[in-house]
Amino acid sequence: MLSVETLTKTYKTGDRALSDVSFTVPKGQVVGLIGPSGAGKSTLIRCINRLVEPSAGAVRLNGADITRLSNTELRRARRRIGMIFQEYALVERLTVMENVLSGRLGYVGFWRSFLRRYPAKDVQMAYRLLDRVGLSAHVDKRADALSGGQRQRVGIARALEQEPELLLIDEPTASLDPRTSRQIMRLIVEICRESGLPAIINIHDVVLAQQFTDRIIGLQAGRVVFDGTPAQLTEDVLTTIYGAEDWTAMRKGASEDAEAEEEERAQAKKLMDAL
Ligand SMILES: Nc1ncnc2c1ncn2[C@@H]1O[C@H](COP(=O)(O)OP(=O)(O)O)[C@@H](O)[C@H]1O
Ligand SMILES: [Mg+2]
Repeated sequence: MLSVETLTKTYKTGDRALSDVSFTVPKGQVVGLIGPSGAGKSTLIRCINRLVEPSAGAVRLNGADITRLSNTELRRARRRIGMIFQEYALVERLTVMENVLSGRLGYVGFWRSFLRRYPAKDVQMAYRLLDRVGLSAHVDKRADALSGGQRQRVGIARALEQEPELLLIDEPTASLDPRTSRQIMRLIVEICRESGLPAIINIHDVVLAQQFTDRIIGLQAGRVVFDGTPAQLTEDVLTTIYGAEDWTAMRKGASEDAEAEEEERAQAKKLMDAL
């Protein structure tokens, strides 16, 4: 379980990016973090893994307060936090397998991983994860030969190869087309449920968040202004979070995409039935 307690962050510039943010995320729950640009979403994710030092408050992962750890302890704690970034965060010249195995870096040490001497069990786990994310046929391809969706699948497998206790995901679909975005969101949510991983997904697309996550936290000017189920996220609440920003257009576009996907699925089913 992840517990964020009255987390506050004021940058040196005087910008208060987070004010008294508190929430807990139980095992297997996927939280969608939404809010307008500048609301503090990235700061929150970065305070949780301490890429940014919080000014006050606590972040507990399965009991241990991450904000109080020494550097050595922090390195160890970071292994347990899997990060998934936008799909370009891969090592281009390395293969899919090597990228996934780099998730073990925190465990096997730099030289062993540089020489690519990973223990057999790490390699077995990587094969299993690549199978889970649907990339068995691409294990030896170079990362730069993959599509955007495939690259994001590698990113997911690499984060899981860390054997994390928490997943932090920053805009996983920002550079993907709508259909691939939905496939990636679905995959992330399924994996979290089946492995009991808590996850926080920073996502600008409200419709995707509503469609796939268990719970939504809305940030505005560094404060939690909504914390509830996707169904509770009404138009009034969205207006509170986004103000005058036109999220209605966003919603309309996405529902058309969903219809197109439904249609595709119906056609695929017809084909299967005909076989
Ligand atoms: N490194 C930084 N130094 C100073 N201010 C920052 C820094 N990073 C972010 N901020 C400020 O903190 C606030 C929240 O930013 P951020 O966490 O990036 O929001 P979001 O991810 O929701 O767009 C903004 O006002 C932003 O200008
Ligand atoms: Mg951001």
